Amino acid sequence: MKFLALAGGAILAASAALAAQEIAPGDVRIDDGAYAQSLTGVPGDPVAGRAAAADRGKGNCMTCHPITDMSDLPFHGDLAPTLDGVADRYNEAELRAIVINSKEVFGEQTFMPAMYRIEGLNIVGKKYEGQPILTAQEVEDVVAYLLTLKEE
Ligand code: HEC
Repeated sequence: MKFLALAGGAILAASAALAAQEIAPGDVRIDDGAYAQSLTGVPGDPVAGRAAAADRGKGNCMTCHPITDMSDLPFHGDLAPTLDGVADRYNEAELRAIVINSKEVFGEQTFMPAMYRIEGLNIVGKKYEGQPILTAQEVEDVVAYLLTLKEE
């Protein structure tokens, strides 16, 4: 009985480790502006993604991008294209690549921050040193949110 309980515990621990397996920022290889694989294997949650996108300590997307869906929030910038209808212009793999590392997709000169990269950042606030702006799951959540932005 004791053995069975132990074995069961080990199986549980192993599956938890599997579930927690994430693709680290340094292991992401964006191919031709797209990254098809989920970073976590856990489907993105568009509601959490909207919150992470709006959070000024995280995505802070609307500081540069107009987003009609976020017109309840103040301080929209217009330095970048509107994200309205972005799901009609890019597929999921392309949106994931843009959110992970905009520099890889648009070129180093873009001023959109790379959200899931640690190496090669020019200016890193102390708060962000050694960690990406968004966690792997937040990237998945933001991508799920972007996929809801379709033109009617
Ligand atoms: C500091 C400004 C800035 C922030 C913050 C920012 N972006 Fe961007 N983004 C840009 C710029 C500029 C471009 C245009 C690409 C270029 O540089 O040529 C862009 C392009 C994009 C595009 C492609 C849009 C299109 O229609 O071609 C997507 C999608 C995108 N950003 C998503 C996001 C998301 C999601 C966030 C928040 C998690 C975000 N951006 C935060 C500046 C920003």
